[in-house]
Amino acid sequence: MSKDFKKWFDDYSAIYDSFDEHLEHKDKNSEILFNHLQNLGQNPVICDVGTGTGNSIISLQKLLNKNMIRGEYVGIDISSKMLKHLRVKNKEIHTICADMKYLPFISDCIDCQTFYFSIHLARNEDFDVTLRETSRVLRNGVGKLVIVTIKPNSPFNKLRDHLKGKKRSLLSEQFLIEKLKSLDLQIDFTTIVTNALFFETINDVITFFEERGISTKNRDEVVKILKQYASFTEEGIEIAIKDLVFVASKQL
Ligand SMILES: C[S@@+](CC[C@H](N)C(=O)[O-])C[C@H]1O[C@@H](n2cnc3c(N)ncnc32)[C@H](O)[C@@H]1O
Repeated sequence: MSKDFKKWFDDYSAIYDSFDEHLEHKDKNSEILFNHLQNLGQNPVICDVGTGTGNSIISLQKLLNKNMIRGEYVGIDISSKMLKHLRVKNKEIHTICADMKYLPFISDCIDCQTFYFSIHLARNEDFDVTLRETSRVLRNGVGKLVIVTIKPNSPFNKLRDHLKGKKRSLLSEQFLIEKLKSLDLQIDFTTIVTNALFFETINDVITFFEERGISTKNRDEVVKILKQYASFTEEGIEIAIKDLVFVASKQL
């Protein structure tokens, strides 16, 4: 399974950042998370798993730095090409090409482990292995786990599934709560963050999906489908996205 994702994300790496270019509030998740990560100490070890081109962790790093929390950052990803893009943008984050199921760390050494839009890629039995591995490396008593994942049934996801003709497999809030509890990870905070993707024209929407391998048939058809999921304003087209955010801690 991981091998398929490796190829897919290697191929996708060159255009991956165009998603964030359309995002209306780029640092919204970091701003919400920051309030729940103030007990990390002055020099925490922060590991971002499925870090990709690094956008999410770079946003959090900037906010922590601004507030005098420095830290050591490690980005883990199965795709070496995604990591290459990260290194061009940020030289302070150490990168390691590895599978989230086997983290190259000793036990009890990470102060904060983040999964931004990556945990849903570990499915079925891999999911339990991944969370157990996370729990192993988190520092006993103080280690924080952050999960940010796509909320099922947001307008953007419904639109994507409609255009693709196939439902993407995502994780429900309830599923995540049960899994975290079963591994003795205490949930400190959970919320839903609403954001939006903004496009100036219909052609920009078409290009966005076609770059991601989703063929959009003809323009009239796209407009008809978009009207079900997007808001049309004088400035352009807005498609709402929703993220599930969790902060959990590893108890002694
Ligand atoms: C949707 S991207 C998210 C990237 C980044 N976290 C962000 O917020 O933009 C998912 C990332 O998870 C990585 N990934 C998929 N399966 C993985 C695995 N088994 N181990 C490590 N990384 C994995 C992919 O290569 C990809 O870079």
